[in-house]
Amino acid sequence: MFKEFETQKFYYGFPIFLIGYEDDRYQYNVTTCSSSYTLGDMVVIGLAAQSNAVKQIEKFKHFSINLLSSEHMDLVEKAGFNPAKDKLNLYDIAYEFFKDSRVPLISKATISLIVNVEKIDYQGDYVNITGKINHRLFNHELLEHPTFIREKFEPFLYVGDDKKRVYRFVNKIVIDGGSFFE
Ligand SMILES: Cc1cc2nc3c(=O)[nH]c(=O)nc-3n(C[C@H](O)[C@H](O)[C@H](O)COP(=O)(O)O)c2cc1C
Repeated sequence: MFKEFETQKFYYGFPIFLIGYEDDRYQYNVTTCSSSYTLGDMVVIGLAAQSNAVKQIEKFKHFSINLLSSEHMDLVEKAGFNPAKDKLNLYDIAYEFFKDSRVPLISKATISLIVNVEKIDYQGDYVNITGKINHRLFNHELLEHPTFIREKFEPFLYVGDDKKRVYRFVNKIVIDGGSFFE
């Protein structure tokens, strides 16, 4: 039997990542995000309209998506609890660039995606940013060239409602998609 759950929001498990972006005040910056989906080369991220990240991404039209391993949870909170601060410098967060791109990549990330903005869509207090993925960069430990070593990638999820923010670590992998279907 179902019962209605009263809440303003319910986030049912979304991978947490850091967005790297150019910043007109601090040159480069970083913000934590868990709102995204991707289909092929397209990726959509969701951000609060008043965030510094939206302002800067709207201006520079590119950003990176950086996935971390769970040993770097501190970065999630440093980039997620300090709105509009100079977070990369404040916490001495190492970043780097790929070729001649000006999009900062978080050096401790296991996977970084470089994205060009295609569309920005304001929805009340939130903004959906649709982008095209131009590069998918993987730490060498996740690759036995040219294969992705899926077992070594450990995304972690944000699960939350009005009352509580929960991190969920994913530690079970079924390599063979399709093996449940008879
Ligand atoms: C685990 C976690 C997930 C978050 N997910 C989002 C998100 O999906 N969208 C968003 O706008 N903010 C999200 N935030 C909050 C932003 O990171 C936070 O408001 C940040 O300080 C904004 O910084 P800025 O104004 O410098 O861009 C998240 C924070 C944490 C810790």
